[in-house]
Amino acid sequence: MTAPIKPINLFEYETLAAKHLSQMALDYYASGAWDEITLRDNRAAFERYKLCPRMLVDVSRRDLSTTILGQSLQMPILIAPMAFQCLAHPEGEIATAKAAAKLGTVMVLSTLATKSLEEVALASKQTEQEASSIENRFWFQLYVHRDRGLTKALVERADEAGYRALCLTVDAPVLGRRERDRRNQFALPAGMELANLVTLTDLEIPYNPGESGLFTYFLEQLNPALTWKDLDWLQSISHLPLVVKGILRGDDAVRAVEHGARAVIVSNHGGRQLDGARASIDALSEVVASVGDKAEILVDGGIRRGTDILKALALGAKAVLLGRPVLWGLAVGGEAGVGHVLELLQDELDIAMALSGCAKLQDVDPSLVVRL
Ligand code: FNR
Ligand code: LAC
Repeated sequence: MTAPIKPINLFEYETLAAKHLSQMALDYYASGAWDEITLRDNRAAFERYKLCPRMLVDVSRRDLSTTILGQSLQMPILIAPMAFQCLAHPEGEIATAKAAAKLGTVMVLSTLATKSLEEVALASKQTEQEASSIENRFWFQLYVHRDRGLTKALVERADEAGYRALCLTVDAPVLGRRERDRRNQFALPAGMELANLVTLTDLEIPYNPGESGLFTYFLEQLNPALTWKDLDWLQSISHLPLVVKGILRGDDAVRAVEHGARAVIVSNHGGRQLDGARASIDALSEVVASVGDKAEILVDGGIRRGTDILKALALGAKAVLLGRPVLWGLAVGGEAGVGHVLELLQDELDIAMALSGCAKLQDVDPSLVVRL
């Protein structure tokens, strides 16, 4: 018998994952908003940046480790918050958390997870303990609901369970229109629930004929009146470091920092919110120039190769977040699949660094990249 052929890059994972997912789940995961211009541009934009490698540098020993918010990471690749991971695999967010913990990186758990934040924290801590580590490398992503009490309760639970940061997503006052989801009348299959919210209320993703149930959920439950002063409110109820996710302009990044953000994630939500928004890699330099060293800058959207990460780091990001490829790994192989996706990318970054004369992340400087 020949061994099963394992994917050798993230694109192969994407192709393979399609065979493991229902049409509704695949469409939900893969979709962008409206014409998916931003979704495509997140990829296309990377091709506009060219690397300027340095030669004859001793790169015999390489180190990809870094720190974010004072936490040590084995690689500058975090797992982006993504809702409804049980659509990919029965273990859902728990499998993702274990893979992140095993490889020494951060998983950001979505408010709209299908496993509860307590279960995920426990799985992550156990995996770390097995590896003789106690870093608690997990953050909680917050969607602010209209119900302040519910939001406060979520934040308190995240704190209690050992989450190390609150990642507030600011690009979703309403949900972007993903037309595939609308056509599919997206709803959660029986047996899957909003695991963080069921214990607080009886909230669920409604079935709404002719509409994406998630779109309706956002309309009914999330607070579209959120403003900068709510960052102050959040900090009055929690001492966790605040990370603001979904910034695409320098002035907004400055405002986030003025309101206490310790890190900013430059992101267009993987092209799922405002179609036509600029590619996140194109917004990165402006944000870096505006914020300087007052906060750590991260970026996500379209990261699929080690060279994409190298470009992002050269443009001033401290690390990147990985979105959809994690779901493809999860669909194909659960925890092992997610782990392999991370390893592939880590290996690609390692080789790209060697080929450009960088032995460690601090060697990656702005002169390494030009935009054509
Ligand atoms: C997301 N994203 C997201 N972001 C967030 O803040 N909270 C969430 O619950 C979700 N849910 C979610 C579900 C799915 C299926 C996807 C694909 C994305 C956005 C995510 O965190 C990230 O910004 C993008 O996915 C990054 O782009 P790539 O890597 O997918 O191109
Ligand atoms: C999404 C939401 C849940 O992108 O953030 O589907």
